[in-house]
Amino acid sequence: MRLTRVPGLLFGGDYNPEQWPEEVWAEDVRLMAEAGVTMATVAVFSWSRLEPAPGAYDFGWLDRVLDLLHEHGVSADLATATATPPPWLVRRHPEVMPVDAQGVRLEFGSRQGYCPSSPIFREHAVRLATAIATRYAEHPALAMWHVGNEYADHTLECFCPESARHFRAWLQTRYGTVGALNTAWGTSCWGQHYTGFEQIEPPRKAPGPVNPAQLLDWRRFCSDALLELFTAERDALRQVTPAVPVTTNFMSILHGLDYWSWAAAEDLVSDDAYPDPADPESHVAVALSYDLMRSLKQRPWLLLESAPSAVSWREVNVPKPPGMMRLHSLQAVAHGADGVMFFQWRQAKYGPEKFHSALLPHGGTETRGWQDTLRLGADLRRLAEVAGTGTRAEVALVLDWDSWWGLEAPESMPSNRLKLKDLLLAWYAPLHARGISVDLAPPDRDLSAYRVVIAPNLYLCTAEQAKSLASVTGELVVGPFSGVVDESDQVHDGGAPGPLRDLLGVAIDEFWPLPDGSTQRVRHDGGDAGLARTWVEWPRVVGDAVEVLARYEGGDLDGLPAITRNGNATYVSCLLDDVTPVLDRVLHAVPAIDVPPGVEATRRENHLFLLNHTGTPQQVALPHPGRDLLTDTDLRGVISLAPRDAVVLRIEGDT
Ligand code: GLA
Ligand code: GLA
Repeated sequence: MRLTRVPGLLFGGDYNPEQWPEEVWAEDVRLMAEAGVTMATVAVFSWSRLEPAPGAYDFGWLDRVLDLLHEHGVSADLATATATPPPWLVRRHPEVMPVDAQGVRLEFGSRQGYCPSSPIFREHAVRLATAIATRYAEHPALAMWHVGNEYADHTLECFCPESARHFRAWLQTRYGTVGALNTAWGTSCWGQHYTGFEQIEPPRKAPGPVNPAQLLDWRRFCSDALLELFTAERDALRQVTPAVPVTTNFMSILHGLDYWSWAAAEDLVSDDAYPDPADPESHVAVALSYDLMRSLKQRPWLLLESAPSAVSWREVNVPKPPGMMRLHSLQAVAHGADGVMFFQWRQAKYGPEKFHSALLPHGGTETRGWQDTLRLGADLRRLAEVAGTGTRAEVALVLDWDSWWGLEAPESMPSNRLKLKDLLLAWYAPLHARGISVDLAPPDRDLSAYRVVIAPNLYLCTAEQAKSLASVTGELVVGPFSGVVDESDQVHDGGAPGPLRDLLGVAIDEFWPLPDGSTQRVRHDGGDAGLARTWVEWPRVVGDAVEVLARYEGGDLDGLPAITRNGNATYVSCLLDDVTPVLDRVLHAVPAIDVPPGVEATRRENHLFLLNHTGTPQQVALPHPGRDLLTDTDLRGVISLAPRDAVVLRIEGDT
């Protein structure tokens, strides 16, 4: 199934015509056609212009915009316009605005000014979505629906009385009785025993640390509450236009929303990605998030927003040097994107984003930016045949939001230095450097097809999840501080690794977090030395057939097992500076691609992408001969990749 009605790879961006006089629109669509733009995201923040007074719609201007787009071959990713409620709604119903953890109600004047649980906001949002869907159901420009915008960007949680009511209802559904809640939340600690649901409030600012089980349920609830809001709009759209795919733009690997459940609720996955050009390693972290996007539905996805050059919301907004916009766009395609879109089409004249780069910069068509736009449009047309193709990954990284939320709870952990994104990246980066494709997977997905499954951390691990990991038939690698608590953040009987104990053949006597800046030496059984930082453990071997692959050397843990292996299951009880020795053992059956540092190699079926992220030319030995789609030439042997240049090789035959 195609992602949208538009063939080839999508190209385009957010288009905000309401910020410009109509005379400008004609130039916009003419230039879009010139650049080969095929899709524009429209009306994301247009509620106050589409419904200037309650129930009085003004669709005329949007009619003309959509007609113009269609006449120039541009399809619409049409928004439901609910990312900012209009001032009249806020003034009539001040309670739609969110309240922060200190009890302060936020003011109008920005965007995402809504309480996720507000029935008033929801009712109006659904009404508007229905009106827009009805108006444009048959419009030939309509290709997909864009609900809301970047949920949880500004508003993830609200602490108002309405949210409290919603939270209590959510808890009642989860636990049934307040007794069950007391057990799950461990309210015998610090005297928090409840005798009725009406006594429960959201975790507002309290005198001291808040019950971590309450916080964990709050994180779950906040993700679910926004998802309910999204789903209400989605259902309204589906009722009117069942054949038009619905998406909402994700924000890469976002702590606040459980994207496994969100992706299941939408028709196609789309993402907004803003790697920092000032960070020379940002292409690795962004590759990881792209692989998550592809893995969410195990299908191609869309890069719905990225920056042509600088953004406007960092402390210092560094532009993209020549070639980087093209390279990063091709990188998204390499990782499964079927389209590359940008924020935004025409650079704004006013507002908080007037310094944010755009496909058409302030300086117009004379600029370097516009030349980049033309070049990328042409390149994406050359890659049309890549659209729809999949990626075969032999390695999976396990990611679970409940566990992430538990791990990064404030104020009650052995160390606040364990950050899940860093833990994922520590394993992902060396795989990425070897050109090995990686899927992300929730722990309860069928993992039997992978040759290697790596769970960098599963702090929270249920018995069912442990069973799923035990069913891995390839190699399993589990990182430290895993199997510690159950779904209620209660420590498993007998301590870590709880339900993973038989599988791993170890028990953890004590966690041994290291002070900032200090290290612990590790000696691998091959003789090589390594360093652990931030986190080590005091493990004890409990299985009969456990091999010790590395031991701690020196210090209080001298001689204790650091890395163990039980059958196909490897346990790494520390955070290693370099996980290469572990990977070398488990990757034997996984094909790698030999590329110099800074060159990325990624396959999409029979297309091999080679991307030079460095500022110098790089020699690459092609693993197969093939035709480079970007230059339409046959390549074989060793090639030279210019700085920030790329090759997309179509490989013939079955390789
Ligand atoms: C204080 C408190 C105790 C406990 C300990 C933990 O002493 O009185 O209840 O929280 O800190 O260190
Ligand atoms: C996000 C939003 C856009 C815009 C960009 C700017 O992705 O969705 O509306 O604000 O950031 O980087």
